[in-house]
Amino acid sequence: MSILETYEAMHSGSRAWAAKAATVFPSGVTHDARAFQPFPIYVERALGPRKWDVDGNEYVDYIGGHGALLLGHNHPEVMSAIRGALERGTHFGSSHEFEVLWGQQVIDMVPCAERVRFTSSGTEATMMALRLARAYTGRERVVKFEEHFHGWHDLVVGRLGPDEARPQSVGVPGGFYDALTIVTPGDVEALRAALAGRDVAAVIVEPTGAHWGTHPLAPAYLHAIRELTQATGALMVMDEVITGFRMAPGGAQQRYGVTPDLTTLAKIVAGGLPGGCVTGRADVVDFLELREGDADWNAHQRISHQGTFNANPVSAAAGLAALRLIAEGDACARADAAAAALVHGLNDLFARESVAGGAWATSSMWHMNLGTTVARPADVEWDAPEEPAGIAPALFRPLRWALYNHGIDLMGNGGMVSSAHGEREVADTVAAMAASIADLRADGVLG
Ligand SMILES: Cc1ncc(COP(=O)(O)O)c(C=O)c1O
Repeated sequence: MSILETYEAMHSGSRAWAAKAATVFPSGVTHDARAFQPFPIYVERALGPRKWDVDGNEYVDYIGGHGALLLGHNHPEVMSAIRGALERGTHFGSSHEFEVLWGQQVIDMVPCAERVRFTSSGTEATMMALRLARAYTGRERVVKFEEHFHGWHDLVVGRLGPDEARPQSVGVPGGFYDALTIVTPGDVEALRAALAGRDVAAVIVEPTGAHWGTHPLAPAYLHAIRELTQATGALMVMDEVITGFRMAPGGAQQRYGVTPDLTTLAKIVAGGLPGGCVTGRADVVDFLELREGDADWNAHQRISHQGTFNANPVSAAAGLAALRLIAEGDACARADAAAAALVHGLNDLFARESVAGGAWATSSMWHMNLGTTVARPADVEWDAPEEPAGIAPALFRPLRWALYNHGIDLMGNGGMVSSAHGEREVADTVAAMAASIADLRADGVLG
């Protein structure tokens, strides 16, 4: 049987659900990244570093709740906090003690954090951060970097690449991008030029480089952003929706020693449940403040903010439990170590098998090239002068099918490692990759 025939034979239950979903959702899915051909797997349950689909197949999971699960699925202490909160009620529509403890925990962990406002997602957090920056600076322009992802609200879906003049998304009003400048990441002079007019409210950046390090960014560039924003009165917004509490308990800003003015957080911050926040300098975040007796401020200067599920007690309890575990334990270091072992194991395999492929990782986020280049890092982080080439388009689906057949669920061209991943997951993944290479060669798609 071919790789695809095997995939179809092993996943008949998923195929049946996908057929039903096709009449319910556009493309049968609820998130673009979950769309997959000929159909995606349907997952029934998960535990630690693994998950199981409706056909009973087991996977080492590298999606990790789109990066939300640094501690793995169903960490017992987080689950117990969730259960405890559920017993007391899912939504009070009132202030409550967990939100205060949760916010304080963010302030205790994140270097730039002086004040916090919770949102329900990372998209809402980046939207709020940019609005705060505009309110604070009185400027409109925003600088973002090509390919950097900050959610799906109107402004941040600006064009994807230098040759693409249109916005990425139709449905956004034509003039919306007049106040958006897109800069090639890593280009200091381009950033200097973009900021020279002193009309920029904020520079927003994914600190790893686009898509959690798929296109790595030298940490020195973060320092350049910091210096240039400070010199020109723009705010630096570090989007740590993925890297926050992952690259270190205090995120990428702690690891790289760059303190932004504002940070956006989501995913890990809410312990595996929905939630996000904006945090940073008090004088900026306090543009959300309601001032007693100051009608002009309240009506014309502050920015308003609502959101039914902001800091709901169940997310707050889960987030607080997860952040405390991360602050007091070694979850970040354990996930990093497992990712490093995986990168070494895969690169040894690619070399042994003479495959044009290589893996690399930034912290616990790993990626691979396949069928494109033999460049591999000397250690774990990408260190070649050229950009990584990724997975050859013709190989992308066959590789994913083959890895599913052998029990691995990737995210993009790699994935998220949790502190629950250990030697067994690394060994299983390297063995699955070896079997997949053999399958790809048998199907005639890999040299
Ligand atoms: C860097 C970054 N910012 C923002 C977002 C948007 O977060 P959410 O999916 O919670 O809206 C994401 C989501 O993956 C992200 O990776």
